[in-house]
Amino acid sequence: MNSNDRADAVAPVARAELFTEERSAEVVAASFAGTPDPRLRQVMTSLVRHLHDFVKDVDPTEEEWAAAIAFLTASGQKCDDVRQELVLLSDVLGVSMLVETINHRSGGTSTESTVLGPFHVVESPPRELGEDIALDGKGDRCLVTGRVTGPEGDPLAGAQVDVWQANEDGFYDVQQPGVQPERNLRGLFVTGDDGEFWFRSIVPRHYPIPVDGPVGQLLQATGRHPNRPAHMHFIVTAPGHRAVTTHLFVEDSPYIDSDAVFGVKDSLVRAFPTVDDPARAKELGLPNPFRSVHFDVRLLRDSSLSGRSVAPPGRDARRGPRPRR
Ligand SMILES: [Fe+2]
Repeated sequence: MNSNDRADAVAPVARAELFTEERSAEVVAASFAGTPDPRLRQVMTSLVRHLHDFVKDVDPTEEEWAAAIAFLTASGQKCDDVRQELVLLSDVLGVSMLVETINHRSGGTSTESTVLGPFHVVESPPRELGEDIALDGKGDRCLVTGRVTGPEGDPLAGAQVDVWQANEDGFYDVQQPGVQPERNLRGLFVTGDDGEFWFRSIVPRHYPIPVDGPVGQLLQATGRHPNRPAHMHFIVTAPGHRAVTTHLFVEDSPYIDSDAVFGVKDSLVRAFPTVDDPARAKELGLPNPFRSVHFDVRLLRDSSLSGRSVAPPGRDARRGPRPRR
């Protein structure tokens, strides 16, 4: 046996497959094969596969890929404590709504949910049923009524109804400190024995999402508008039931068919009819005529579901005079 024979006898070391255009995704995905956390391994493998498919489909120049990196960099740099450009990017790409929809499938048996949005950043003040949440006195006055029930329509007493909305000019209170009263157009209500809630407010107005950053530039470059149709936000919680985060949309609002963040669902759209009834207006403390809307909320029972599902303890039902509908 000569020296060459001895070298041939050594078992060859298995070489990892080298990178090629054709098998790029498989090669890179294989580098994650040893990830201890199976969920992380699944996520990274899928990400690599789809990302490589995307690049092969688009066939970018190096300048285009550098521009993509610069866009993501600028989006990150735009973020601070009160501005989240990457969430905005997720919103306008419809990914926020997709994640939300996947995680809150109701099967048509409860009120549909939609995006939380970026303006629930302060706690809504507890208010009595019937209170007026429009502290700035602007806008079309509106009576809001509704009932919270379980899946079979059983009224839920003591349910919490957290409401917030933009003002007549299309801004939330937190966007205009010193301009709007603090906690303007926000309220935390508790349903009575019959599951009903009601309060006075204004008809909300459509508004644009922030456009002074990279996402705004993207919308402009692609010919998309930045507007959301008029809506009120709701989070409704009740002990033993799954919470719902949703919107009530104004039927005749501009952009109802082209929400910049894809949040509209048919079941959440309501008419806000005008009521011309001087006696009723006087009883409510509203000018005549006024607008009105009714929004019933149906919750699933909290059986095997996770997440924010029950109202925090320690809040007593606050009652006011019952509305007439
Ligand atoms: Fe909103």
